Amino acid sequence: EDVVAIAERAAKAAESFNELRTTLAAFEHCDLKKGARNLVFSDGIAGARVMLIGESPDREEDVAGKPFVGRTGQLLDKMLEAIQLGRDREEAPVYITNVLPWRPPQNRDPKPEDLAMMKPFLMRHIELAAPEVIVILGNSPCQALLGKRGITRLRGQWTQVAGRPALPMFHPSQLLKSPALKREAWADLLSLKARLRDG
Ligand code: URA
Repeated sequence: EDVVAIAERAAKAAESFNELRTTLAAFEHCDLKKGARNLVFSDGIAGARVMLIGESPDREEDVAGKPFVGRTGQLLDKMLEAIQLGRDREEAPVYITNVLPWRPPQNRDPKPEDLAMMKPFLMRHIELAAPEVIVILGNSPCQALLGKRGITRLRGQWTQVAGRPALPMFHPSQLLKSPALKREAWADLLSLKARLRDG
């Protein structure tokens, strides 16, 4: 039996966030797990209106066992704050996860096999979180969720993931490398804010 089918069965059986986390922690078919220190499952408030999906943990996240805690995460927090959202903001929280729950060695780009294997868990995670709106940060989650890459063209265009409105945006690490892209990121944040206001 192929690993994607095994992953699908395991993911579907998880009835809660805790069960999904436990199932992931026990999933031995992804090589990334062997090189990682910690499982990075999520942060923020489960049940928030907005669910953000990043790529994979970096060094700091691997150590902390939490997504987006390093420099990239600090920028993400600032971006959210600019539209009055925040992972710990009680009145306007977000929920944050990554496509891959383990850090790839030397932060290499996720391989298509990794993304395909972990996608069933991500889809289940989305079902359990039931967000009103999904934000897709960068190419890897676009690859996993939309089956295509090309964030420069995809960003800012609302699409659907699991029957929910989803907005691809530049990943904050890309904004750190190319600050000129912040203009587009700001436009996308405003689009997200408008959607939440009208929704
Ligand atoms: N980049 C990501 O995509 N996710 C993290 O958790 C950290 C950096």
